[in-house]
Amino acid sequence: MSFSLESIGIEHGARYEAIFTTMNRAGEVNAAPMGIKCINDYDIAARIFEGSKTLENIRQTKMFVVNITDNPQIYADALYGNMDNLDFVMDDDITFLKNADAYFICLVKSIEDVEAERDHVNDGAKSYIILAENIKITINKKGARALNRGLFSFLESLIDYNRLDVVDDAKRDEYKNRFLENERVIQRVAEKDVKESMDILRQKMTEKGLDI
Ligand SMILES: Cc1cc2nc3c(=O)[nH]c(=O)nc-3n(C[C@H](O)[C@H](O)[C@H](O)COP(=O)(O)O)c2cc1C
Repeated sequence: MSFSLESIGIEHGARYEAIFTTMNRAGEVNAAPMGIKCINDYDIAARIFEGSKTLENIRQTKMFVVNITDNPQIYADALYGNMDNLDFVMDDDITFLKNADAYFICLVKSIEDVEAERDHVNDGAKSYIILAENIKITINKKGARALNRGLFSFLESLIDYNRLDVVDDAKRDEYKNRFLENERVIQRVAEKDVKESMDILRQKMTEKGLDI
């Protein structure tokens, strides 16, 4: 048993994808993919849009569980609403996924109303910032690590860099747009080393004549 988020590869300031499991007051379970931001070794923040069951359950119980997995189908099934009660383990007032690589229990410290802000996809939608303290981490699979999208975005751009010399102008434009989008994602979510590697890649891309 561990308490530090570092033990599952979670770094201060970076954002990770996970599955939140929650229960309502009636004991009905729910799972949904959600992002978290690491504030420090013990505290995390999540931004959750109004209308989600997860948000309503968190309001009711002031607790939730963050499940760590790299299984793509678990993310998909949670999003499609395809989870079965058998996929969950119930433990008193919490619930977690039977097949999670790791999970941690969070106690809510505050739920803050976010001013409707410019969002690149969900402009003006109402959302809340949940600040929570992780009170216990359980690791089921050795080496379990939370998923950070930054690394995948970096690798996509690195592959484009490798192909830059052999593609036509239309493809170069496509690569430029993809680089800018990957860079946006990385600025928002990535770990420090990925941000540094992306800065170097930007320079390398311009050396190959990409106008970014
Ligand atoms: C990888 C991934 C990450 C997501 N992160 C968030 C998030 O941070 N906040 C949010 O409100 N919705 C997020 N979503 C969307 C919710 O999972 C989606 O709206 C879901 O239907 C909410 O389910 P619920 O009503 O059971 O809570 C994410 C979806 C995916 C696929």
